Amino acid sequence: MNPTLEKWVAEIAAHTHADRVHWCDGSEAENRRLTAEMVQAGTFIPLNEKLYPGSYYSRSHASDVARTEHLTFICSKSKDDAGPNNNWMDPAAARTRLNQQFAGCMKGRTMYVVPYCMGPLGSKLSKIGIEITDSPYVVANMRIMTRMGKAALDQLGASTDFCRGVHSLGQLDPETRIIAHFPESREIWSFGSGYGGNALLGKKCFALRIASVQGRDEMWLAEHMLILGLESPTGQVTYMAAAFPSACGKTNLAMLVPPERFKGWKVWTVGDDIAWMRVGKDGRLWAINPEAGFFGVAPGTSSKTNPNAMQMVKKNTIFTNVALTDDLCPWWEGIDGPVPAHAKDWRGQDWKPNGPDKAAHPNSRFTVPAQNCAGLSPKFEDPEGVPISAIIFGGRRAKTAPLVYESRSWNHGVFVGASMASETTAAAIGAVGVVRRDPMAMLPFCGYNMGDYFGHWVKMGKNLTQPPKIFHVNWFKTGADGKFLWPGFGDNLRVLQWILARVEGRGEGQDTAIGAIPTPGAVDMGGLNLADHSVQELLEVNRAHWQEEAAGIGEHFAKFGARLPAEMAQELAALKSRLG
Ligand code: OXD
Ligand code: MN
Repeated sequence: MNPTLEKWVAEIAAHTHADRVHWCDGSEAENRRLTAEMVQAGTFIPLNEKLYPGSYYSRSHASDVARTEHLTFICSKSKDDAGPNNNWMDPAAARTRLNQQFAGCMKGRTMYVVPYCMGPLGSKLSKIGIEITDSPYVVANMRIMTRMGKAALDQLGASTDFCRGVHSLGQLDPETRIIAHFPESREIWSFGSGYGGNALLGKKCFALRIASVQGRDEMWLAEHMLILGLESPTGQVTYMAAAFPSACGKTNLAMLVPPERFKGWKVWTVGDDIAWMRVGKDGRLWAINPEAGFFGVAPGTSSKTNPNAMQMVKKNTIFTNVALTDDLCPWWEGIDGPVPAHAKDWRGQDWKPNGPDKAAHPNSRFTVPAQNCAGLSPKFEDPEGVPISAIIFGGRRAKTAPLVYESRSWNHGVFVGASMASETTAAAIGAVGVVRRDPMAMLPFCGYNMGDYFGHWVKMGKNLTQPPKIFHVNWFKTGADGKFLWPGFGDNLRVLQWILARVEGRGEGQDTAIGAIPTPGAVDMGGLNLADHSVQELLEVNRAHWQEEAAGIGEHFAKFGARLPAEMAQELAALKSRLG
């Protein structure tokens, strides 16, 4: 039906020497068959059918548990186009290496052809990708995370406009692992990893790295953002998009359940990780979630931190690298209930409490269909998406950034996003807890030079006659005792309420050098029992810290050389002058 697609699939099958080629239709029957094969092969362990019906447990190779940023490459024709934010590889050299590694790599294996649609079926904003993979685990996850199978193929028809992705587990050898992107030809080649962020090519590789380039070329934005709808007691729903680095609580914020005292308030989940946003005819910013499921971090998830998530993972969920209890239930640090006396840890070894090792890997995950989420927005499948009234940037900062502040204008908001910093987490291989600049939480995901990316944001603002207001939040500020000052989770609603009030032009704010912070009392702190000095510390804008911060931003911006838009240099100069 699609000669271009068929020819490409035949070429890959010939090159990889795949034993069989299976075109995935996404049906129940296909899923049942693949699942049974994985159970047979030991890739999947069926979970307790009573407590977790339709759910499976999986472990990955111990060296393959997170994204590998140092092995992720942008192979644009020019090195400058990849920018200082990416590892660049010369496309010709990359193709030579990939050709060698993929030659014969699927011998003895089945090659699955996975057609998938990012975004609601039928939406003008949606895009089709084809992932070729030799991993049935990837197929099962893609079936949850995307609209996968026949419907996607039908939507593609005879079009040649699809993102090509080729994935092989290889020997899961970190020495040969590579995740290479060719932004000009919209291609992804991933070898040697089965981890979600490296292997589910629709997610980070297509929906962020390749799509960010498409967004630049076609005047839209592909962002590492959750999308939520905040319903107030009047029944009005206001949509917000929020960018936080990986494993900083996007899933929890997207599914927030308001504390008891806030009757009539509700958060609707549109997405927890990725937003594709374009300018609507009305001059507002409209967003869709291109994904169909959630690939969330398990540790720390409980009915206190995310009751919706706890409910939604009770059926038809794949758990990867959590611990497995003796009665075949998933378990992780921070989950509700008693700590089991014995479990198998994420490596498959016997585990007992109070030992030196964690039972679940800190980056262990659940893969779950969005439809399982009780708070899923009725707009989730809307082909037009939702209008965004506020953009929220947030990092994990022990010091410096106050609980919340509002930028002074669109360009200042872009500057706030462009200068964002956060402590690293277990979502990527490498040191944890190191502060690094992570502009718009896109450092690992922007498929082109971030200097150009900031310029693209500035341009987008020129097309928005009703731009969203831009905010920055920090749930992670600590006091002198090293403890978090802010309770977070459901209580983050209080900050969202102030943001909503500002959007509606009624929230009280006071101007500071970095933007507007809430006036005392403007964020409802009732019932929190926070000491006065904690509230002050939470909202403090410390001049010396910010002067240091401004110097750090200057160093960060300098890396982009001539590609840094003048608007960003101007905003930095203005910040410095306001700081005095
Ligand atoms: C993710 C990540 O999995 O950001 O969403 O690493
Ligand atoms: Mn993410």
